[in-house]
Amino acid sequence: MKTTNTWPENRFFELFPETQHPIVQGGMIWVSGGKLAAAVSNAGGLGLIGAGSMKPDLLQHHIRKAKSLTKKPFGVNVPLLYKDTQLQLQTALDEGVRIFFTSAGSPKSHTPWLKSCGATVVHVASTPELALKCQDAGVDAVVLEGFEAGGHNGRDELTTLVLLQQIRGKLNIPLIIAGGIGSGAAIAAALALGADAVQIGTMFAATEESSAHPNFKSAMLDAGNTSTFLRLKKLVPVRLLHNPFSENIRLAEDQCASAEHLSQILGKGRAKVGMLEGDLAEGELEIGQIVSNVRAVPTCQALIDELVADYQRARNRLCKS
Ligand SMILES: Cc1cc2nc3c(=O)[nH]c(=O)nc-3n(C[C@H](O)[C@H](O)[C@H](O)COP(=O)(O)O)c2cc1C
Repeated sequence: MKTTNTWPENRFFELFPETQHPIVQGGMIWVSGGKLAAAVSNAGGLGLIGAGSMKPDLLQHHIRKAKSLTKKPFGVNVPLLYKDTQLQLQTALDEGVRIFFTSAGSPKSHTPWLKSCGATVVHVASTPELALKCQDAGVDAVVLEGFEAGGHNGRDELTTLVLLQQIRGKLNIPLIIAGGIGSGAAIAAALALGADAVQIGTMFAATEESSAHPNFKSAMLDAGNTSTFLRLKKLVPVRLLHNPFSENIRLAEDQCASAEHLSQILGKGRAKVGMLEGDLAEGELEIGQIVSNVRAVPTCQALIDELVADYQRARNRLCKS
C-alpha cells in the first residue's frame, strides 16, 4: 500500500524497503514463533520471532519454520539478558537472519559485532535518554516503548504519547514507537507526532497465528479497560493481566515485600506456564493495556488490513475541509 501512497515515505521504509506497512510485530516470549513472524511479514508488516529464553536449537527450529512459510524478510528479537544470548545471536546469523531487534540490555554490548556481520540492528528503549544512547551505540533504529505496553517495561512510567513529544526532533535515525497501539487511528497519531513506524505486541498476541494458548486468548477477549497492572518494579517491571498470581504479587507489594521475597513468589517458568500452557490462575500473563480493544482473534492479514483501513479513515477525517 506504500505503493498506492497510503503511507508517507519515511526512514522506516528506507531501512526496510521490502516492508509494505510501517508496522512491526514486537518480539513476544512464548507467543511469537516462526508462524506468527511469517504471517505478519506475508501480510506486509515486519514479523519478529521472539527468542526470549529459547535454547538455540528451538530458535533454529522457529527460524527454519518462518523461512518455510515466507519469502519476505523477518527478524529476531533477542533480549540481551539470558545466558544463551551470544549463542542465540550466532544461531540466527548462521541461519541467515540479518534483522535483529535487541532489548533488555545495553545497546553497546552486541551492536558493533552484529553490524560487522552485515545485520540491521534495532534496540528497544523506554526513555528518550536511552533512545539517544542507542543512537550513539550505532543502532539503525530505535523502538521507544511506553508504559502501556505488554511485557517487560521501563521503571519510569512514561506513556507513549508523552515519549513521542519528548523525543520529537531529537533522533537522527528511524523511530519506531510501541505501547498501546491498537488501531489505525493510533498509528496516524504516532506518525503525526514524528514516529516512522509502530511496534505492536498485544494485538498480535490475539491473532490466530500467535502461539498464545487458547485459554490466554480467551482471557484477552474477556479483559476490560482496567485489567492490566505494572507489577514487580523491584525486580523487572512487567505489565500483567489480572489473575490470582498477579493478585498475590499485588498483596505482597502492598506489604512492601523485598525483591528476594517477590523473586520467591515468582519462581521459575511462570510466563511459559501462563502464556504457552494456558494456566490462567498460576501463570504470568504478560499483556498491554490495549488488550481491552481485543474483540476477536483475527488472522494477521485481517488485523493488518483493518489497521490500514482505520488509518485511512482517520486520515480522511483529518483532511476533510
Ligand atoms: C506477551 C508479550 C510478551 C513480550 N515479550 C517480549 C520479549 O520477549 N522481548 C521484548 O523485547 N519485548 C517483549 N514484549 C513487548 C513487545 O515486543 C512490544 O514492544 C509491546 O507489546 C508493545 O506494546 P503493546 O503490547 O501495547 O502493543 C512482549 C509483549 C507481550 C504482550
